Amino acid sequence: MNQLNGIDFGTPKSESTELVTLEIDGVNVTVPKGTSVMRASVESGTNIPKLCATDSLESFGSCRLCVVEIEGRRGYPASCTTPAENGMKVKTQSPKLAALRKGVMELYISDHPLDCLTCPTNGNCELQDMAGVVGLREVRYGYEGKNHLDLKKDESNPYFTYDASKCIVCNRCVRACEETQGTFALTISGRGFDSRVSPGQNESFMESECVSCGSCVQACPTATLTEKSVIALGQAEHSVTTTCAYCGVGCSFNAEMKGSEVVRMVPNKNGGANHGHSCVKGRFAWGYATHKDRMNKPMIRSKITDPWKEVSWEEALSYAASEFRRIQGAFGKDSIGGITSSRCTNEEVYLVQKLIRAAFGNNNTDTCARVCHSPTGYGLKQTIGESAGTQTFDSVMKSDVIIVMGANPATGHPVFASQMKRRLRQGAKLIVIDPRTTEMVKSPHIKAEYHLKLKPGTNVAVVSALAHVIVTEGLLKEEYIAERCDLKSYKEWKEFVSREENSPEAMSEITGVPAETMRGAARLYAKANNGAIYYGLGVTEHAQGSTTVMGIANLAMATGNVGREGVGINPLRGQNNVQGSCDMGSFPHELPGYRHVSDTTTRTLFEDAWGVKLDPEPGLRIPNMFEAALDGTFKGLYCVGEDIIQSDPNTQHVVSALESMECVVVQDLFLNETAKYAHVFLPGSSFLEKDGTFTNAERRISRVRKVMPAQAGKSDWETTQALSNALGYPMNYSHPSEIMDEIAALTPTFHGVSYAKLDELESIQWPCNEHAPEGTPTMHIDEFVRGKGKFIITKYIATDEKVTRKFPLILTTGRILSQYNVGAQTRRTENNKFYSEDRLEIHPHDADERNIKQDDWVGIESRSGQTVLRTTITENVQPGVVYTTFHFPESGANVITTDNSDWATNCPEYKVTAVQVMPVTQPSEWQKEFKQFDDLQQELLHAAQTVSHS
Ligand code: SF4
Ligand code: SF4
Ligand code: SF4
Ligand code: FES
Repeated sequence: MNQLNGIDFGTPKSESTELVTLEIDGVNVTVPKGTSVMRASVESGTNIPKLCATDSLESFGSCRLCVVEIEGRRGYPASCTTPAENGMKVKTQSPKLAALRKGVMELYISDHPLDCLTCPTNGNCELQDMAGVVGLREVRYGYEGKNHLDLKKDESNPYFTYDASKCIVCNRCVRACEETQGTFALTISGRGFDSRVSPGQNESFMESECVSCGSCVQACPTATLTEKSVIALGQAEHSVTTTCAYCGVGCSFNAEMKGSEVVRMVPNKNGGANHGHSCVKGRFAWGYATHKDRMNKPMIRSKITDPWKEVSWEEALSYAASEFRRIQGAFGKDSIGGITSSRCTNEEVYLVQKLIRAAFGNNNTDTCARVCHSPTGYGLKQTIGESAGTQTFDSVMKSDVIIVMGANPATGHPVFASQMKRRLRQGAKLIVIDPRTTEMVKSPHIKAEYHLKLKPGTNVAVVSALAHVIVTEGLLKEEYIAERCDLKSYKEWKEFVSREENSPEAMSEITGVPAETMRGAARLYAKANNGAIYYGLGVTEHAQGSTTVMGIANLAMATGNVGREGVGINPLRGQNNVQGSCDMGSFPHELPGYRHVSDTTTRTLFEDAWGVKLDPEPGLRIPNMFEAALDGTFKGLYCVGEDIIQSDPNTQHVVSALESMECVVVQDLFLNETAKYAHVFLPGSSFLEKDGTFTNAERRISRVRKVMPAQAGKSDWETTQALSNALGYPMNYSHPSEIMDEIAALTPTFHGVSYAKLDELESIQWPCNEHAPEGTPTMHIDEFVRGKGKFIITKYIATDEKVTRKFPLILTTGRILSQYNVGAQTRRTENNKFYSEDRLEIHPHDADERNIKQDDWVGIESRSGQTVLRTTITENVQPGVVYTTFHFPESGANVITTDNSDWATNCPEYKVTAVQVMPVTQPSEWQKEFKQFDDLQQELLHAAQTVSHS
């Protein structure tokens, strides 16, 4: 139901460039060929009654409410399934049509509860609307006969109800699940009168394959599938467009509101990244914003074993500022720094790095992208000159062959996965390069042509072997290379990959992938008209993460697959604003726009704008901050929106580093794991409580709009500004739009960006400037940003993290659909009902060898530490490899991961840890200590709250 979500044209838009002209009710209408009569009519301003049609789905033609008369045609065709034709003369209204429509409605209503006044969708129900439109005044059939009015509700899903008694079997939900989402969880079971919507094999929604994307709920024209929040709160009275705060897809939503209370989040049909689709997180998991755990009072304490003291904003900020200045006085200017998060808006990240550079006076600023996509930044900058994805998501609809490497979009980027699956169902071919058999390898109506199930840590070997085949079998696009690439580097690369040592046969032993599979995959990709590569953290979070990124760029350049739609190199950014936080200069060596701090011209530009001298030397990266803390030279940290204790590798090392600091300031929504080691807590604001922008994985800048007041009284940008002022460096923005104006003025790729333009265009893909006033959907069209594309030699070097007799298995990590990253948000929603603990996936062979059974508790030990999880025995992982997620702090997944990191960027090698796994009967020592420390911190917090409330 779409009342607040724009006009419903009934059927999808036709992409044809050929036009046809027809006459509807005496008015000439011109539309693209392939447009339905229904859509042509709505476009010309005349609505036709409908029930089974909606413009997000192909037409189905089952309800017969949309009948029309067409001159020269017999009968009364359904306008939703009839294509518009040149010269057609259509009548949408006549006494006969009115009678037919009334008859249809009578049949529906005779088997529908007449409880409109108490129905949750009263006022937003298409069935109710249509009864009004056709002028239904009586139902001749009565309610005594056979009907469905007593059917039971399915309340199993935490977010929506299925009330079968209200179903009109229009099939919209089934089609939404197939066409939009691609899960195929719903069918119509039974025939005729007995036909009903059924999840799975007559299961409940919770038992079925349903992934709670909400697409069926959105498509349902009645109250059959209804959000529980709507049932509880009633219909919304206004709607504000904003952007999801979870993953890098960056879905646009209409926050439907009652005053300042969210009634529901409805995916925005005009959203450039999602076109009206969503996943369970953005659609339903927003309740954390008003969760009782929200910390809404600033707090301070001298030691982490002291009780917290709730104080005013002024006191907390002036305490933090005086501590930072004291530390700098005692230990030097460089003894403090800050970390921002990709969960923050662009404006917030910009302000934090500005505060660090201008008020702290050093470049000790880093961001969580350090631990996810920093190799993308480095690798793409070296090869093609811009550290960002080359395409729009929509580009995938023009791809013929798609490589998905080290990513599982079905869990990490679900809305994009649905789009990719749609393209695959149309016939595009898929190659998956992943140590696990993910959902992308095989799901309803999808099967990868090749699955390169490599050993973790051997990406570079695979990429070089693919390149070997392309070069030695003459599959190169020589003309493209000659025109667009640096020929010296090309020659060297060609000679290198041609070597026998890089052949699939030679690499097969290292990678574990049969040579023929690698050869087949390389041929398929290289011969495609349009070949696209999508990759994720399974590429970057390795000792050779940057090398693999460069290897991917080599493959794309060698096959001419950059610079148009359907191709490209596409990093799937994990969090909502990873792209933006990197763009905003949050790295220690780069000012906004990826300009090195040592570059005098750039520094002068910022010095003039900010009125301070800037340090020309790069500052400390996150791991260097920890090292310096342990050396006693780094003593103060401003950490905004990032839970480094849970998300960074080798937890015990991070804990020791934090314990050795004298002032840790955490700005967050909750008392997260890092905040338990903090001296100052500044309450953060959720995405619903602030204005700003996020930049998604396709460089799309979208507005985040405030729909409710900041719970603690300040939005995050206001807090950073207030801290800067307390430190004596003045900031006086009155709205985030002014921060964006400053960013635009100082950053060439953002010169054309403003809130006014974002309001007008809905979203903008950077670069947006004099050359591209409305943004740049596809990059590197005529030439690469660096000029000539540079090939880089990618020599495979085995990681230092070796399996041994003591640690014979490799642990690799990833995510699940329903939880998000460290879980701080999703764990505080009903999403826990889908996934409530991190599990260790282990192959039956490895489980058998260790006498491990399904659901057993097992100890996982690495060179860094030990933890205990329950097992899931599955062939999705290969023998020798175990896998877990990291969404729950008590799991301690990062207690086991090591300090190894990417050679170029220090991105941690999360994806390869040598471990041993054994059955155990009790939690690990670390887990016991974690519990004790957590209990202590809860007591210290409780003490503060009790004092303040007494
Ligand atoms: S919520 Fe999504 S996955 Fe579940 S049945 Fe509906 S459309 Fe299918
Ligand atoms: S549940 Fe809703 S969308 Fe699905 S068939 Fe019934 S009325 Fe139509
Ligand atoms: S989590 Fe990602 S895919 Fe899901 S709604 Fe949000 S932006 Fe879209
Ligand atoms: S809307 Fe056309 S047949 Fe249902």
